[in-house]
Amino acid sequence: MTILVTGGAGYIGSHACVELLNSGHDIVVFDNFYNSSPEVLDRIKEITGRSFLAYECDMLDEEAMERIFSENKIDAVMHFAGYKAVGESCEKPLMYYHNNIQGTLTILNAMARHNVKKFVFSSSATVYGDPQSVPIDETFPLSATNPYGRTKLMIEEMLRDLYAADNSWSIILLRYFNPVGAHESYMIGENPKGIPNNLMPMINKVAQQELPVLKIFGNDYNTKDGTGVRDYIHVVDLAKGHVKAIEYIENYNTIESINLGTGKGYSVLEMVHTYMRVNNVAVNYIFTDRRPGDIAECYANPEKALRLLNWKAEYDLEKMCRDSYLWSVSATKR
Ligand code: UD1
Repeated sequence: MTILVTGGAGYIGSHACVELLNSGHDIVVFDNFYNSSPEVLDRIKEITGRSFLAYECDMLDEEAMERIFSENKIDAVMHFAGYKAVGESCEKPLMYYHNNIQGTLTILNAMARHNVKKFVFSSSATVYGDPQSVPIDETFPLSATNPYGRTKLMIEEMLRDLYAADNSWSIILLRYFNPVGAHESYMIGENPKGIPNNLMPMINKVAQQELPVLKIFGNDYNTKDGTGVRDYIHVVDLAKGHVKAIEYIENYNTIESINLGTGKGYSVLEMVHTYMRVNNVAVNYIFTDRRPGDIAECYANPEKALRLLNWKAEYDLEKMCRDSYLWSVSATKR
């Protein structure tokens, strides 16, 4: 298949490109490089030894979307492009709604015009809001606690409406838990601009002594050691889940939401201590107040992914910590 990867230079998009190419698929990529850089595309080519067409453009640009579908024979779309910072989404909600919602509509309209009806959407476990219990399965009630999360939820709903109106579409909503780690080449990985929001990039910065100390947001949660528990998943496992999803909708007309997680919850302290041990590096930390909006525990029931896609995560926490660290070391040297 030829798959259009939106946001293909981003953290998860770039890893998905590698796995798609390694699985023998062809790709076409576009990215506006708002939160990524064109070099990433060269690195994908170097890692895989394969070439592909890439466009620098914005998903809000209708003419550009039209051009991509006119110039290529696209079979399916994997949609990663979008803004993703929770805090920023609270400060600039209109920017988030405009970009994420309108951008997705522009892509879907171009797809409809060109009769391309296979779509894999980059959703998030954030659509479960504050879950009533763990592990979380796909039938849990959905809600959002911030504008970023609401854009994910709204797009999921738009896609369900689309499928209800025309069941010749085939759509998978992949709900990611907490992606970390990097490709083993250490040529691509997560490279947030400015001060990171998420735990692993923050640990990397402290280990690299670019920031003095990791603030652990709360040690009074009702969890094994009082710190927040999450389902961290290696980004390469996550990317492989996307290949399985695209291959699934090649054969079925359906809409399915599917969790991509390991099914295991680790606390912030477990994460930090594992990172220090496997990398033999210090990470100074202090406990501070809880971060507003954070939940105590979040981890997946990943059985549906196994049942439908024959996918399960392979890499453990040690590998996630090692690959995150080695990527950050190599990124610093560059
Ligand atoms: C966050 C977003 C979520 C988004 C996901 C993307 C919030 C409230 N949620 O999830 O919507 O889909 O990122 O990956 O922002 N922590 C610290 N110190 C830090 C950073 C994090 O202690 O400097 C803790 C958090 O309190 C949490 C855990 O580490 O317990 C993971 O945090 P993070 O990596 O930001 O992910 P989520 O909050 O799960």
